[in-house]
Amino acid sequence: LMGVIVIMLVISPQYTLISLCIAPLLFTLILFYTKSIKAATKKQAKAAGKVAMVATEDINALQVIRAFTLEKREDLRFQRYVGKQQRAGLRAGRLQAQFTPLVAVLLLVGTAIIIGVGGYVSAGNPFNGGFFSLTASSIDVGTLVLFMTYLKMLYQPMRNISKLTNLANLASSGAERIQTVFDQAPEIIDIALPYEGAKKFRGDITFDAVHFGYVKDTPILKDIHLEIPAGKRIALVGLSGGGKTTLVKLIPRFYEIEGGVLKLDDKDVREYPLAVVRQNISMVLQESVLFEGTFRDNIEVGRPGATLDEVIEAAKKAQIHETILNKGGYDAEVYEQGKNLSLGQRQRIAIARAILRDAPILILDEPTASLDVEAEGQVMRALDQLITGRTVIMISHRLSTLGHVDEIIVVKDGTIVEQGTYKELKRMGGIFAMLLEEQNRYNIERIGDEPAMIRSAYMPAVRAKHAGSATRTSQSAATAEETISPLAEHVEHVEYAEQTREPVEVKELVAVGATSATNGKSSIVSTTNNGYHDTLVSYTSSSPNNSEAPVPTEALNLLHLDISEDDEDPTERLPRAKTVINESNSSSNICVQVELDGEIIGERTLDKPVLWIGRLLKNDIHIPDRRISQKHARIVQRENTWVLEDIDGFNGIIHQGKRVEQHTFTDGDKVYLAPTIALHYHVVS
Ligand SMILES: Nc1ncnc2c1ncn2[C@@H]1O[C@H](COP(=O)(O)OP(=O)(O)O)[C@@H](O)[C@H]1O
Ligand SMILES: [Mg+2]
Repeated sequence: LMGVIVIMLVISPQYTLISLCIAPLLFTLILFYTKSIKAATKKQAKAAGKVAMVATEDINALQVIRAFTLEKREDLRFQRYVGKQQRAGLRAGRLQAQFTPLVAVLLLVGTAIIIGVGGYVSAGNPFNGGFFSLTASSIDVGTLVLFMTYLKMLYQPMRNISKLTNLANLASSGAERIQTVFDQAPEIIDIALPYEGAKKFRGDITFDAVHFGYVKDTPILKDIHLEIPAGKRIALVGLSGGGKTTLVKLIPRFYEIEGGVLKLDDKDVREYPLAVVRQNISMVLQESVLFEGTFRDNIEVGRPGATLDEVIEAAKKAQIHETILNKGGYDAEVYEQGKNLSLGQRQRIAIARAILRDAPILILDEPTASLDVEAEGQVMRALDQLITGRTVIMISHRLSTLGHVDEIIVVKDGTIVEQGTYKELKRMGGIFAMLLEEQNRYNIERIGDEPAMIRSAYMPAVRAKHAGSATRTSQSAATAEETISPLAEHVEHVEYAEQTREPVEVKELVAVGATSATNGKSSIVSTTNNGYHDTLVSYTSSSPNNSEAPVPTEALNLLHLDISEDDEDPTERLPRAKTVINESNSSSNICVQVELDGEIIGERTLDKPVLWIGRLLKNDIHIPDRRISQKHARIVQRENTWVLEDIDGFNGIIHQGKRVEQHTFTDGDKVYLAPTIALHYHVVS
């Protein structure tokens, strides 16, 4: 190109100048069009991205869309983005279409001027073009023709550039779009140095002044300080959107923190290879995704290369073995991301994975949030197997599932606002206490629709032969103390938290009497030493002389409402009534006593071949405590022995520190159904 210009200059400096006059114009044109074309193509790329996103979203949310009949709306939304893409595409196309011809026109105009001026001058006229003039006949036609040839050579590359800019525009706007995507997801950079340290962590986690936000200038976590020594179990609670999930996602380094340090076993996470960090962490999330493949494959993801035996063992611990067998065994296919399994079953497969993985750090992000109560129970039991001996961080909405944790952390708006044990936080009367109260209120409402739940909580206290007190006619609560009904022998005291947030006190329930008149009207009267509960309830019994007469549900409802303040309290285990179990005819001389938190709360003679143990009233041995499952276990007579069998016990049955499926009783045995709930077996001679 330079050569061409030099030759042209030699031929005629003036004409060269004229022809180069075009250049600035051309550049302005190129600049303007490049910019607008680029903007348009970028818009188009973005709109195309949106179209793809809406399409994927809709495909994934097909069920929701159908369920809410959102087809029209989604159709419109989709059309809108398609329209946007179309318009942006059209604009880019139009600009491109204009650009090349415009350049060509400009170059033609340049040529025309040269020919015109040249022709004019060579014909013997002087030319005065304002800033420069040409004397007549300073150029002849031959030179002009020669010049034109070179002019064409000069303009050709310019024309080519105009074509190239189109291509360049497309490429650079694409590149910019890719760059913005890259910028959004801060890349996690793995360390390059070879790693010599331990492959398996102890499990200490330390957050030191950690700051984090998904996008710049929108902090999500602010100045988090948290120390979790290995083996400790903590729970994160708080309103949704507070940043709990975000906090736990930082541990496996899904995102890079912005400020502060996150340490695992006293070393900055960034100093470990990513693979090592992640191998040391198992996660069970709200919903678990299963992959195309067999059950075995799906569990093996936890630790690729595990043997079938190991897979089966993990499945058994996760309580999913039976289900797998029913579904065709370990080599049966899981299809459509596990649609042939219930949510609870999928969660248990995820738990089996985590058990197999055997990582020292376990993260549970609301693993039971989307499950119903019974499925929740099964999953919790599976989790029980998983959480032993690990550092556990558990996020939970249901405060009732926090019985096992050592410490509770309340997260609000990206900061830790409360931290302590269940009791401490409750006493503090802060956010946790408020959440708890909120939840209890909800539970009471819920229990209102579920008579079975109510019965479970308090039936034993009124189960006794209230008819027996029929002769002790109506008396004031004060005198009822002296004429205690048989029932009162069994209900010695009730412990509950009072409505204020003071420390829990034990209040003696000095009398619970079923006073009855012959007309069949009964009332259960109780007084407490501070007078909180006087007449709890009165009810009408249709058969006052029947010792098995059921207490009407409404009555129990009231009773329950009165004491359910602390229903969800897993550590204080309230209410704590003396259970009445003994209703036997004393024909047998073998009995079990129920011990709850160090006190014997009841006794039952083994007078039937099968006795059921559970939280609900319908059980023969009914233990009103949340740690006991609805159908926990049963005692079965086999030949001359009595065998305790685990049925559906959340905490199972534990004999001499070992969880067992069943246990054959011998005199004096003590078997646990939960850490502080035991059965004593006695042969009375
Ligand atoms: N991937 C993400 N990109 C941007 N913002 C997010 C992302 N995930 C969560 N957030 C935001 O971070 C905040 C905390 O969310 P999250 O950690 O999920 O809360 P929690 O688990 O306590 O409900 C919310 O305001 C949420 O909108
Ligand atoms: Mg969350």
